[in-house]
Amino acid sequence: MSTAELFAMDWSPDSWRRRPAAQQPEWPDADAMDQVGAELRNLPPLVFAGEARTLTESLAAALDGRAFLLVAGDCAESFQAFSADGIRDKLRVILQMSVVLTYGTGVPTIKVGRIAGQFTKPRSSATEMRGDVELPSFRGDTINDFAFDELARRPDPGRLVRAYHQSAATLNLVRAFAKGGFADLARVHAWNQEFVAGSPEGRQYDVLAGEIERALQFMRACGIDLEAELALHQVDFWTAHEALLLEYEEALTRRDSITGDWYDCSAHLLWVGERTRQLDGAHVEFLSGVNNPIGVKLGPSATPHDVVALCARLNPRRQPGRLVLFSRMGADRVAEVLPPLLRAVRLSGHPVVWACDPMHGNTFAHSSGYKTRRFDDVLRELRGFFEACESADVAAGGVHVELTGENVTECLGGSEEVLDEHLEQRYETMCDPRLNARQSLDLAFNVAELLRR
Ligand code: PEP
Ligand code: CO
Repeated sequence: MSTAELFAMDWSPDSWRRRPAAQQPEWPDADAMDQVGAELRNLPPLVFAGEARTLTESLAAALDGRAFLLVAGDCAESFQAFSADGIRDKLRVILQMSVVLTYGTGVPTIKVGRIAGQFTKPRSSATEMRGDVELPSFRGDTINDFAFDELARRPDPGRLVRAYHQSAATLNLVRAFAKGGFADLARVHAWNQEFVAGSPEGRQYDVLAGEIERALQFMRACGIDLEAELALHQVDFWTAHEALLLEYEEALTRRDSITGDWYDCSAHLLWVGERTRQLDGAHVEFLSGVNNPIGVKLGPSATPHDVVALCARLNPRRQPGRLVLFSRMGADRVAEVLPPLLRAVRLSGHPVVWACDPMHGNTFAHSSGYKTRRFDDVLRELRGFFEACESADVAAGGVHVELTGENVTECLGGSEEVLDEHLEQRYETMCDPRLNARQSLDLAFNVAELLRR
């Protein structure tokens, strides 16, 4: 029996509890947390196992360039910034990006939102100092409150229930938008938002939207019944988040009545972050046993040995589409550190979708105090990623970005440049800086160009 099979025999939704779990809060009242776990276990799943299986099948096509994965959304969702308009704007910019990618490459874009469950955040320090006051760090709305005071920062398990209900309401709206007409390709022009439309990338998008409309007109003239083509009127839109807060993930993990397999029904795709991907740690243990598609973030400290071991542990049966590796090396390091990983995985024969997260390796503290990223660094890492994939003869399978549909000023640069002095104008993120809708569209045009080459 292989080691992986031995691990699998020992797996249960709570087997992670026997291993060291990094980045977990210290609940002041363990009984209260257990009660919340019991409450969540009785609530309906947010997604179905069958949906997760369909996503795995779609991802398998990204292994060899027959599809491209786009993961996008907030760094952290928030209880406060929760509105129908916010969800609509985010979805709209993701749809625009997806049209740019699909039209530019001729292959389907697999659309995955960091949404409906992306609340919990890993932190580089367990506490935050302001002046001479030291308090627990903010770990995301599932755990404590952003406000810097002692009571607000105390972990409160009741927040898990609120996160569940907000996720359910968000997912409900996302499903309605995806299937109920908003995502109809006939609206490709209408998606160009006010503040985007006038920008260079908005105008570039308008040209493309015009071409799509003409193509549809042409098909109609040829006698094709476009109304009957469901694929023109609806999209598949999947959800994902970092599986960081394991009590929550455990409580949403259910056995599929059709196959008898375990699925984490809190989202379609779950990923393990750069700070929690230890091979013997609790997070990898938990994700090894659920049958959803799984992602792993890889920073510059990842070695070829680590990465191949993670593949063996998380996908021992080598199922195509099961595993996505998100490279987040930073623009300066990607050319040096990524190619050995790509080659090692290719030689191991593990089927892996390689995707680029060009955000998390390029964050820095601006002199004004804001955490930011330069749009140029984001593009530079993307180019480095595509070059590394080409040199290792591996398909560039996707991108993973933090964005919002709103006109924020959190990342520097872009064609209508966000300058240093603009940062404070609309800096609204609770965690990492996000691309605004213009920058997101600009990025999509750049990725489409890289894919075409
Ligand atoms: C994130 O995706 O928000 C994140 C924290 O990423 P990473 O684990 O790659 O740092
Ligand atoms: Co982030």
